[in-house]
Amino acid sequence: GDNVLYLAHKHGIDLEGACEASLACSTCHVYVSAAHFDKLREPEEREDDMLDMAPMLQENSRLGCQII
Ligand code: FES
Repeated sequence: GDNVLYLAHKHGIDLEGACEASLACSTCHVYVSAAHFDKLREPEEREDDMLDMAPMLQENSRLGCQII
C-alpha cells in the first residue's frame, strides 16, 4: 500500500523495511517533521512497542511502514 516505506522505495530513497510492514522490526524508523507529525493518525500500540526498540528514538519518531 501507499505507506511512507513504499513511497520511499518508489522514489529511490534507501529506507530499510526488513519485515515488510508486518510490525516485526524497527528498520523503517523515520523522523517526521514538526509540520507533519501532528497530522498523522496516532500510532497503534504495536507500533509504539516496536518504536521503543528503535535506536535513536525521538519525540517525532514513527515507523515508516505505518504512516499512511
Ligand atoms: Fe518492519 Fe516497518 S518494515 S516495522
